[in-house]
Amino acid sequence: MGRLDGKVALISGAARGMGNAEARLFAAEGARVVVADIVDDEGKTLASDIGDSALFQHLDVTSEEEWNACVAATTRAFGRLDILVNNAGIAIPAPMRDLSLENYRAVTEVNQTGVFLGMKAATPAMEASGGGSMINISSIDGIIAMDLVFAYVASKFAVRGMTKAAAIELASVGIRVNSIHPGFVHTQLGNFDPEGTRKILDHYSSRRVPLGRTGEPEDIARLALFLASDESGYCTGSEFVADGGILAGEPAPRGNE
Ligand SMILES: NC(=O)c1ccc[n+]([C@@H]2O[C@H](COP(=O)([O-])OP(=O)(O)OC[C@H]3O[C@@H](n4cnc5c(N)ncnc54)[C@H](O)[C@@H]3O)[C@@H](O)[C@H]2O)c1
Repeated sequence: MGRLDGKVALISGAARGMGNAEARLFAAEGARVVVADIVDDEGKTLASDIGDSALFQHLDVTSEEEWNACVAATTRAFGRLDILVNNAGIAIPAPMRDLSLENYRAVTEVNQTGVFLGMKAATPAMEASGGGSMINISSIDGIIAMDLVFAYVASKFAVRGMTKAAAIELASVGIRVNSIHPGFVHTQLGNFDPEGTRKILDHYSSRRVPLGRTGEPEDIARLALFLASDESGYCTGSEFVADGGILAGEPAPRGNE
């Protein structure tokens, strides 16, 4: 028996990274999954890898029209909607003084407005299914600020706040809303090495992350699975951190560091 048997999940930004890992894990646990993304080819490949229990739907999370179409496609294909993962996200690194209004808006449109539009579009369908679970992917940057990613920090703090406001509003219709706060995770977005290798990130993680390693998309997917399932039935409006211990504090230098 799967932990999500009978449930239908819609995951934004599911073509790559954490969303991809969540789609695979949710399907393996019995859910039918809508893989929604702007990257059509990779999204379609993932949906066909998963098989009949997955469907790809083009979705730009900044478009209210596309959100409504995506939710309609989900209920048309699978008859209901129980789980929404607002996972799509982008980062445009820049300190506040160098950040253009255009780039500030680009980041907040996807990371913040996209989450609002997702929750708004999904609510009627989830209410019609008798309730469910919304999972908003914030970041540790939504709990403590990080230097040089001003717009990203602004958007991720907003996601944390919107999660709590929505949780209070939607509790009476049986919809739980929680946020996940990943630390550094091996994905395209998480890799700040311009050459694309894992060296810089892994060196940083080995010294600064108490668990001594960078996270994997599956580390976050397993937490999302718990929040998606009925096992988290008494959790709403809460923050769930998966960061290898970063927010607990910094390890002291060891050996010859
Ligand atoms: N990787 C990390 O270290 C890290 C840490 C904390 C939080 N996060 C958050 O996790 C989430 C997933 O990121 P990831 O690390 O897997 O990155 P990723 O770049 O691997 O995946 C992000 C996905 O979002 C999609 N996307 C981008 N803009 C979109 C749009 N307008 N509409 C629909 N889809 C869009 C991309 O095509 C991609 O498939 C994001 O919200 C990110 O901010 C990542």
